Amino acid sequence: MKRLLAALTISLLSATASFAGVWETNCSGCHNGTVAPSKEQLLKKFHTKQEFMAAVRKMVQAGKMPPGLRYGMAARELFGGAPSFGAKKGVKFHSFSSATTKASSADPYAKYKKFFTPLPALPPIPADNALTPAKVKLGKMLYYDPRLSRSKLISCNTCHNLAIGGDDNLPTSRGDHWRTGGRNAPTTLNSGFLRVQFWDGRAPTLEAQAKGPIQAHVEMNSTPEIVVRRLKAIPEYVKLFKEAFPGEKDPVTFDNVAKAIAAFERTLNTPNSPFQRYLLGDENALTKEQKEGMALFVKFGCTACHNGPVLSDGQFHKFKWNNDLGRYRVTKNPADKYKFRTAQLLNVGVTAPYFHDGSVNSLEEAVKIMAQKELGKKLTDEQAEKIAAFLRSLTGEVPLEARTVPQLPGNNPE
Ligand code: HEC
Ligand code: HEC
Ligand code: HEC
Repeated sequence: MKRLLAALTISLLSATASFAGVWETNCSGCHNGTVAPSKEQLLKKFHTKQEFMAAVRKMVQAGKMPPGLRYGMAARELFGGAPSFGAKKGVKFHSFSSATTKASSADPYAKYKKFFTPLPALPPIPADNALTPAKVKLGKMLYYDPRLSRSKLISCNTCHNLAIGGDDNLPTSRGDHWRTGGRNAPTTLNSGFLRVQFWDGRAPTLEAQAKGPIQAHVEMNSTPEIVVRRLKAIPEYVKLFKEAFPGEKDPVTFDNVAKAIAAFERTLNTPNSPFQRYLLGDENALTKEQKEGMALFVKFGCTACHNGPVLSDGQFHKFKWNNDLGRYRVTKNPADKYKFRTAQLLNVGVTAPYFHDGSVNSLEEAVKIMAQKELGKKLTDEQAEKIAAFLRSLTGEVPLEARTVPQLPGNNPE
């Protein structure tokens, strides 16, 4: 009996942990007590929803908080007398939590939802790189600006094209002088949710990551000096750096280039996929085939590695596929030979070809290979098709603001 109770508590706890409310998904990434006041600090300061919302409006106007987050709903969660879970009887709250915990669903597949996590509005925001509108604006321009590359022809968007899924749809990318680095470009969409960056996890953060491709011989083949010199020669950029990094004496630095790009990347999140809508309560957002695929994805054990908001555990797993040694190249630990970070799966329906060398064109084929190599199971064509159909339901919406090409300041006089 005791064991049963313990098991029950654990399953209840894990069930609640995966269904975050609006505060948890839209606000807590910044409101962690470092970047912005924590929930406890806010509740101490504000005693009514009205006071709270007045402060919100001020902050949005002042450019300290992004517009369009679900502030009203968060306020209702904090002040409406409704905690995220176990809302008061008779009170209906349309938040992530109420939608996903609805138990009375007639959908026989609803029981599989607990293996998945809805995508929050924003990934965690690091304390030393607050997400401000000025920084995001600058970061977007830098992301699209080919003048960061030696040839002035290659931008981040060349290989991570936000119009075609945040990647280049090539097996392996072509950079400076058409050189290739031998690896497939993963999407930048939702990359803020990854625990480590690159197939082999060699960069811990987006800030550290962004410095890599600018300098890589096979990518943009530039140097920090070239980048800073070119940007400083463009007065409008100098002004934008001042606005994005207020109070800094000499804000046009390579570090700040990386910080601004990383801030922009944290806005490249793709909500509203059919699967996301399904998780949030719209039973009809998935077809029957996709629901069956979801069930197979769970039953075969794909969720052992593909879990969390972007379906990657952020861990390294053996995938011996070619002679790329993967994680071993970073750690030199023999146990890490042929290990790669679990790929995220959001938008995987539009990011072919697959795997770290982009050698597989068909999603069905990639699914079969995974089942065989990672789980020792042989899928039938029908099973692979269903799982692939499920994976295609993970394609969300790239924010319009992010995929609208920015106006870049005038020609480099250099
Ligand atoms: C991108 C980061 C970010 C996100 C996301 C964010 N905030 Fe903020 N918030 C801030 C910053 C920065 C401040 C200003 C802190 C300061 O200047 O002391 C702030 C201030 C506030 C304040 C006023 C605090 C005060 O002391 O006056 C409220 C209220 C608030 N936020 C609510 C919310 C709610 C609700 C959400 C989610 C819907 C949210 N915020 C999401 C960064 C964020
Ligand atoms: C020439 C093509 C090319 C360019 C230009 C390029 N990248 Fe990449 N990017 C790649 C490739 C290839 C990888 C994977 C490399 C690896 O893992 O070894 C990658 C990996 C990444 C990742 C890691 C994603 C993940 O899932 O781990 C991010 C984030 C990223 N690039 C952002 C950027 C940014 C920001 C820029 C501009 C400063 C940029 N890239 C420029 C090709 C490119
Ligand atoms: C033991 C961990 C593990 C399991 C279990 C697992 N995967 Fe993977 N998955 C990975 C890793 C690691 C990668 C990256 C492989 C590489 O380096 O190319 C990956 C990559 C993928 C890709 C390619 C993504 C891309 O953008 O290239 C797909 C699709 C995929 N997995 C689907 C599945 C499916 C479906 C299952 C269940 C049948 C599954 N995986 C089971 C770890 C796992």
